[in-house]
Amino acid sequence: MQIQWYPGHMHKAQKEVKEILPQVDLIIEVLDARIPYSSENPMIARLRGDKPTLKIFNKSDLADPAIIEKWQAYFENSEYIQTLTLNAKQADRKHQIFDLINKMIPRDDSSVKVLHALIMGIPNVGKSTLINTLSERPIAKTGNEPAVTKMLQRIKLEEGITLFDTPGMLWANIENVHSGYRLAITGGIKETAFELPDVASYAAEYLMNYYPERIKERYGISVATIQDLLQNNPSSDVALLEIIGKGRGCLVGGGRIDLDKASRIFISEIRDGALGALTFEHPDMMESEQIQVEELRAMKAAKKLAKEEKKKNRKRNKR
Ligand code: G4P
Repeated sequence: MQIQWYPGHMHKAQKEVKEILPQVDLIIEVLDARIPYSSENPMIARLRGDKPTLKIFNKSDLADPAIIEKWQAYFENSEYIQTLTLNAKQADRKHQIFDLINKMIPRDDSSVKVLHALIMGIPNVGKSTLINTLSERPIAKTGNEPAVTKMLQRIKLEEGITLFDTPGMLWANIENVHSGYRLAITGGIKETAFELPDVASYAAEYLMNYYPERIKERYGISVATIQDLLQNNPSSDVALLEIIGKGRGCLVGGGRIDLDKASRIFISEIRDGALGALTFEHPDMMESEQIQVEELRAMKAAKKLAKEEKKKNRKRNKR
């Protein structure tokens, strides 16, 4: 799946971030705890250098705690990175964050008077909700459609911290095809940028492999049936969506299943947490996915080169 969703203001935001980064003491990256890797912005990963970075695993109420722990260990391998799991229902979020920031950048020697922190995160990750909690006033608009904030803002917090708030920045072309799907499943990409049944099929396949018990609990489909579908049906993902659709009365003429409707129900139930806390990627998947990305890059580069060669030859032959 190729996702091309890159509103103009996001390009501007990337430029602004590059300019502001030298003034920043700390980067606060708000990640979706269900997809800590795919919700990272690769541009920041490249530009960050040795800047202290606090990665907040937000929406942790919707994510699998055992996998979150693995991701925390994965990121904290770097001496510059600290992580914190968080969700909007926690009452003491503000203090947890400030305590950790003060540990990361102690200010008792007054070398840093006002701490400048850049806060960023992909659309819909819960960044505005978090900023409002930190500032204890409704500064940032919250909402369920990605990309509400458009301008870089400066927000002074009482605790001697100035936050630079960036618009939700998503990169131009998601090279890792799996990341594209995961972002679509969890609501980080506008629905107009992808085909819902395609995304629902990806989610179905993943959940059948990693969380068959949850499918059983939610839709009453036995684990044995799921195993059977996986082993004997090459379109097991679609078959599962059809069973779910049938159970929910998503029918069109001739008794056929309305796959669009079934997909919408399935994805919205995943997002709402109706299937329990889920995580859609594990640290040990990353190596092979990175290899896939490199191979794809190499293929694209080879194609481009071949095209250029062809063009040159055509020109030569004309002479
Ligand atoms: P953004 O600025 O990163 O784009 O995200 P925003 O804060 O607007 O949050 C997007 C949606 O995610 C909001 O729901 C918000 O309530 C929800 N959200 C934020 N933090 C958490 C969390 O820790 N757990 C869960 N489960 N949800 C969270 P909404 O229904 O789209 O809008 P609203 O009516 O709640 O404002």
